[in-house]
Amino acid sequence: MTSKTIAQIRNEAAASLSPERQQQWEQFLTPMPIAEQAVSLFTPTDKPVRILDLGSGSGILSAVTARRSTRGSSVVAIEQDADLAQVSESSLRQVCEDVTVINKSVFEVLLDTQFDRVILNPPYKKISPTVIATSNGGVKVTNLYTAFLVTAIQALDEGGECVAIIPRSWMNGDYFKDFRKWMLNECSLDVLAVYRSRQEHFKDMNILQEIMLVKVSKRPQTKKVSVYAEAMPVAPLESQPHESVALKALLMGRDRIVRIQPQDPRLSGFGTISDQGLWVSTGKLVWFRNRDVLSAVERPKGHPLYWSDNQNGMMMVHPVECDREQWVTDGVDSRNVILPAGSYCMVNRFSAKEQSRRIHASYLCSSVGFVADNKLNYVHQGTSRRTVPLDDKVACGLTLWMSSSVIDEWYRQISGSTQVNATDLRQMPCPTKAQLTALADSLPIDADASQSHIDETIGRLFSWVQAS
Ligand SMILES: C[S@@+](CC[C@H](N)C(=O)[O-])C[C@H]1O[C@@H](n2cnc3c(N)ncnc32)[C@H](O)[C@@H]1O
Repeated sequence: MTSKTIAQIRNEAAASLSPERQQQWEQFLTPMPIAEQAVSLFTPTDKPVRILDLGSGSGILSAVTARRSTRGSSVVAIEQDADLAQVSESSLRQVCEDVTVINKSVFEVLLDTQFDRVILNPPYKKISPTVIATSNGGVKVTNLYTAFLVTAIQALDEGGECVAIIPRSWMNGDYFKDFRKWMLNECSLDVLAVYRSRQEHFKDMNILQEIMLVKVSKRPQTKKVSVYAEAMPVAPLESQPHESVALKALLMGRDRIVRIQPQDPRLSGFGTISDQGLWVSTGKLVWFRNRDVLSAVERPKGHPLYWSDNQNGMMMVHPVECDREQWVTDGVDSRNVILPAGSYCMVNRFSAKEQSRRIHASYLCSSVGFVADNKLNYVHQGTSRRTVPLDDKVACGLTLWMSSSVIDEWYRQISGSTQVNATDLRQMPCPTKAQLTALADSLPIDADASQSHIDETIGRLFSWVQAS
């Protein structure tokens, strides 16, 4: 039986998915080129292997794994959709004699067997934080895909390998912190391969997130992780550009953020923004819970309200004409949302896909106490509990620094999503306050500065222009 047949079964299953169930159970079936590439990450062996496929869909992943494995190998596939479970059965029967398809939820099956090869493209869906008990203590998961991965890793035998097709979101941010720490403790991270152009590779599935392959194995951490920062499904992975990097060079901070490239050498001399005594917080006003205090006009004893709509290049402007109320009444005074007058660097929390930059920083100098919407981050020199405004020059220098290409590239290496998390920004490499002041002196913030002008000024100041 040729791979075309397994591919045909998959294509027919993909074409006949019921739209409701597809949405409810996240049925995004892996195309053959990606399946082949995922399976190619398993270490070849002459010995029969026990294969597990969690959320098997058409069975494509375990079928391709079994087809490449020695006679005598076996497959257990778990799929909760009865129709797809049948499709899995017919794919798998083409290539393997010892097949068990279980038509249940992954979380209802007690997996007592230890597996040599676990493969999965799980559902991607946010869930309310849940603690999964593991042999190594509980781990908090916030998404179905990490819940599946915890189950997959737990099912591995010593020396067993797991390949997963998942979004890139686990690598950064607060939500996945617990999972990252657990996984990096539990197994060896062997391969990271990020598909940058998702629409192209999952064409018929309309997937909007950045997708990647991860390979982990149940053995001590491998010396070098293979990282494919721009994987393409058209050619074998090993023929594509990649780097072999020590895990340590990919990890950042106590939250163990994983980036897809080692640190840019231009940034290696800088401490983090937190090391410089600065702190990143998120705007405190959630507008829909505070509708009663929003005001379209300035009220006596009221306060200005800043949204991302008030970001105009590197400056915060207030008031602006938009459909958001620009003021709050003094009704907010008891709600602990007012920030003290002074200078800040404000940063968007969400960027649009079409925006050329992920990070959009704007300088704010307010002579009165003000309120920031929850879709803005702000940098200050206090703590998580107490907001203390920045020295004015530091606020300007930081806005310029965060507007540089080197920082935008840095952020893209750690985050594949359009969100800009305060947790990630706290790990941002940052010059000292004195250096930020010098930067503000070299380039006035209100100038209509082009990207190249900002980059050149920063490059000259830190003398990497000649070096790069
Ligand atoms: C993203 S699809 C991938 C399917 C297949 N592995 C592939 O790569 O083409 C996820 C699959 O998991 C199934 N699924 C969702 N929740 C499940 C659960 N709790 N237990 C078992 N299967 C589940 C869905 O029905 C769907 O077939």
